[in-house]
Amino acid sequence: MKYPKEYLDEIKTRLKVSTVVSKSVNLKKRGKEFVGLSPFKTEKTPSFTVNDEKGFYHCFSTAEHGNIFDFIMKTQNLKFGEAVKYLANLAGMQPYTFSKRDEEREKMWNEYSEIFKMYVEFYHNELLKNQDFKFAREYLKKRKLSKEDVLNFKIGFVPFKSNFYEKIKSKFDKKNIIDTGLFYFDDKKEIYVERFRDRIIFPINSITGQPIALGGRTINENNYLAKYINSPETPFFKKGSNLYNLDYARKLSNKIEHVYLVEGYMDVVGLKSKGIENVVANLGTSLTDRQISILNQFYNDLIICFDGDESGYKAALRAAENLIKELKPEKQISFLFLPDKEDPDSFVSKNGKDFFIEFTKEQKISIHNFIFNHYKNETKNDPSSLAIFEKKIRSIAYSIKDEFIKKYVLEFFLEKISLLTPNANQNKNKNKNFYKKIKSLKSTQKHFNETKNLSSIEVKEFSFLYIIINNLELIKNNLNLLENVKLFSNENKIIYESLLKQFQNNQNLSKNDLSLDPQILDKITQFASIKHILNKIDNDEYKTIELLEEIIGDIKNYELEARIEKLESKFSKDLDESTFNEIRELKKSQKIN
Ligand code: UTP
Ligand code: MN
Repeated sequence: MKYPKEYLDEIKTRLKVSTVVSKSVNLKKRGKEFVGLSPFKTEKTPSFTVNDEKGFYHCFSTAEHGNIFDFIMKTQNLKFGEAVKYLANLAGMQPYTFSKRDEEREKMWNEYSEIFKMYVEFYHNELLKNQDFKFAREYLKKRKLSKEDVLNFKIGFVPFKSNFYEKIKSKFDKKNIIDTGLFYFDDKKEIYVERFRDRIIFPINSITGQPIALGGRTINENNYLAKYINSPETPFFKKGSNLYNLDYARKLSNKIEHVYLVEGYMDVVGLKSKGIENVVANLGTSLTDRQISILNQFYNDLIICFDGDESGYKAALRAAENLIKELKPEKQISFLFLPDKEDPDSFVSKNGKDFFIEFTKEQKISIHNFIFNHYKNETKNDPSSLAIFEKKIRSIAYSIKDEFIKKYVLEFFLEKISLLTPNANQNKNKNKNFYKKIKSLKSTQKHFNETKNLSSIEVKEFSFLYIIINNLELIKNNLNLLENVKLFSNENKIIYESLLKQFQNNQNLSKNDLSLDPQILDKITQFASIKHILNKIDNDEYKTIELLEEIIGDIKNYELEARIEKLESKFSKDLDESTFNEIRELKKSQKIN
């Protein structure tokens, strides 16, 4: 008996793989994954990984791979049903009791999948062996499909005169046969006709690899028949929830980071036969969120590559505007546009695998860049056109559901828009000279950092104060350096203010005249790591100033970072344009440094 998908999904949502696995394997977190010693093999170095996000474990030394159910079945030697009971209990759920409806559905599914298996097998063999179908084999040869491709995809041919219905009608429930969508009733002749007759058929498999639907291509180039037809929706086939070749491509996600999404059956077959196997197709419907979230269970990086014609471009744009709303952190969607009149199949067969991969690397464009460029190209350089453009682009950014992605995409868009508007960069030269000077001192900084690792801002401030206190005369002559320097830690702030005051009041200050708390002075001397470097440079005034400038740069940057962080959190809440502009200005001065 089959458990309903919802029940199994509920268990999976409630239990992380790491929770289940860690009951028997000692796991350590490493980046996004967990690692531990393989339960399938005695080993000394951990080769067993668990990825909660993907819902899988993988053992690199034995190639064992699966979800929580597989794990329990394999490690505890249980049957699937027993594993479900065990895990449901662990998840705090009631054991599942099968209803009459479940039983019926199970029976329906058994017949459904049995019929499809027979159908696919039968016409696959006919295509391979039947003497009468040489013309179909010739057609495929002309299309550069090898026998291996035909075998891999279990491609078949349904002749015009065919009566599979007669063959199976005694074996199965009539309603179940009709529910497969393989036949329709011809009212006039009162017979069941094969929907896919006179077509090459491409079986569409469920995620677990059973054929559940078909795509069929006519081999007669006439224009009154649709070139391709697909199975109608059936009780076990929902177009928007399936992808062609997903059952195969999903298994590659351990080895490959990204997956291609193409339009057609022939694109999948063509790419795969040229060695690009991480590819799926969306079955002639527009791409759904559901399809994307299914792909995202296996792949974080999705490359959409539709045909290089107008309809392919339009489909890509529609997909982009729809998918950007659902974009999630860590998930990437990009687009790959092919030269005019090419589709992935023709392109890879002309240029080969390596070129295709290289082309992908160079040409793929992120979803937000694609959207921006598209609307930008439609915009003329006049105020009204630009205003419409900005409005459109903003509304697309606002449509993004994830708050973080929304923030960054909006920031990205506004940044690019600001480059289009002529007066946007007025402030960019502010502070430039100051920071430029600092920049040329990177080598000193390196030396500096190597000598002592100054990590916290407080230690930086100690060094800053130390230099001042021990070089009063020098600083007095370069007081301009201290302009706009703000310290963060309260104790240091007080000392710094008192120092500044004393500078103003007393022209000839010496270290002994300083009215500073001796305890604090001690602390500064103890923690200011700069003192080691100052000793080395032997009171060289020029170098001392250099060091001071460097520290000031770091302190200012720290201040910038703190301010940017604060503003960004404000921006993610109010999405206010002036906040954004402020962030942008701050980031600019940060970059210059
Ligand atoms: P294409 O017409 O680009 O197919 O349609 P193709 O892969 O290049 O096919 P060949 O090379 O001419 O054989 C892409 C996809 O759109 C759907 C099918 O899923 C097809 O694979 N489609 C196309 C239909 O559903 N009906 C049609 O009439 C045409
Ligand atoms: Mn095509």
